Amino acid sequence: MAATMSAALLDRAAASIPGGVNTCRRRSEPAVCFRRGSGARLEDLEGRTYIDYHAAYGAVFLGHAHPVVSQRVVAAIVDGALFGVGVTQAEVELAEKIVEHVPSIEQVVVCNSGSEATYHAIRLARGVTGRERIVKFQGCYNGFHDYVLRNVLSPPELVGRRDPQSAGMLAAAVDATLVCRFNDLEDVRSTLERNAGDVAAVILEPIGHNSPGLLPDPGFLAGLRRACDEHGCLLIFDEVITGFRHGLGGYQALAGVLPDLTTLGKAIANGFPLAAVGGPRELMERYTTTATGDVHYGGTYNGGAAAVAAGLATIGLLEDGSVHRHVFDLGERMRRGLEEIGRRAGISVTVGGFGSLFVLCFMDGPLETYEDVLRNDTELFMRYRRELVARGVFEMPESLGRSHIGAAHTDPDVDRSLEAAENALRAALG
Ligand SMILES: Cc1ncc(COP(=O)(O)O)c(C=O)c1O
Repeated sequence: MAATMSAALLDRAAASIPGGVNTCRRRSEPAVCFRRGSGARLEDLEGRTYIDYHAAYGAVFLGHAHPVVSQRVVAAIVDGALFGVGVTQAEVELAEKIVEHVPSIEQVVVCNSGSEATYHAIRLARGVTGRERIVKFQGCYNGFHDYVLRNVLSPPELVGRRDPQSAGMLAAAVDATLVCRFNDLEDVRSTLERNAGDVAAVILEPIGHNSPGLLPDPGFLAGLRRACDEHGCLLIFDEVITGFRHGLGGYQALAGVLPDLTTLGKAIANGFPLAAVGGPRELMERYTTTATGDVHYGGTYNGGAAAVAAGLATIGLLEDGSVHRHVFDLGERMRRGLEEIGRRAGISVTVGGFGSLFVLCFMDGPLETYEDVLRNDTELFMRYRRELVARGVFEMPESLGRSHIGAAHTDPDVDRSLEAAENALRAALG
């Protein structure tokens, strides 16, 4: 007999769903399944509630089941979920809003996931430049497809070496993707020089949130911009995490560095499947959505009513800036509070993150490039996260997973979470 209702459901699921889950990283230890989410709270199958910082890997930014988003989605779908011809008024309004807010975007197309968005952006870069290679960064995750699924959370012996993350990847695709060190401009420059005339694009998370918490050094993004211009390749900011979460203009608006192409996802529709690729008109019009375009762009579900309505509702709720001020304030309090807890415990901690994101790592600083992340004490990290979950604070019990603050979190939530963090750390240290 399974110990909990969650374990029992996962056992039952495993008969008809391989491993019992629909995405590889949903298996957690302890096993937990939720039946309801509301605001910043999740309720598991036993009825226990948790303050949620997992936020579905950051897709839920305004809080679970936000009434304004839900009502707008319901109002949209009663008139039909999908027509598959032409465009809807809501799709046009959404595009106009994204163009208004994201500085480098003159035109935008939507799809359903961040992986689709990075796939389409890379194909466009290849189509426009006539080149095949791309550059990504060790420790960055840019989606599940063969173009980018290499050198994400590599083990120490494979850092910077050939490290495809899955069986079944096309060797030619893996080898067409070159891997550089985050924050190492010299590495990028020499890679572009060695491959002069072959690199279509440099793609990166402008903050390396999947490592997590690699902030770009001053000058890194601007240096990439210059290097791409000199070498005639496109700069792609993968803002699937940073877009809307750090501001409606994405991290590019805060950094003052504009990419050629931007990918958006996750927080832009508060948990509904919406993602986007945007850029200047002359590039975007190469998609076959135009009569003369030559870069294929397709997708049955693109621009479906539910996702588009959720995106429009989310933008509407973010436009006055108060949500961003709120989550940045709480994020700052959380990061400082966790640092103090580490100090009081007398152990080395480094708290990564930016804005609404945070991660408590058990290591000395700095946290600048992927090799730094490898110093984290993974066993302590996992024990700490499990102790947190036992205390009703849901940070994903997964190595190096970042945690997310959203609009629904409050100051008392942060107080309670810091208290739980101190107790959890004491228990984890034994
Ligand atoms: C920066 C980044 N890009 C792309 C993706 C892929 O997005 P999706 O899981 O929606 O395909 C992710 C997902 O975690 C991401 O963090």
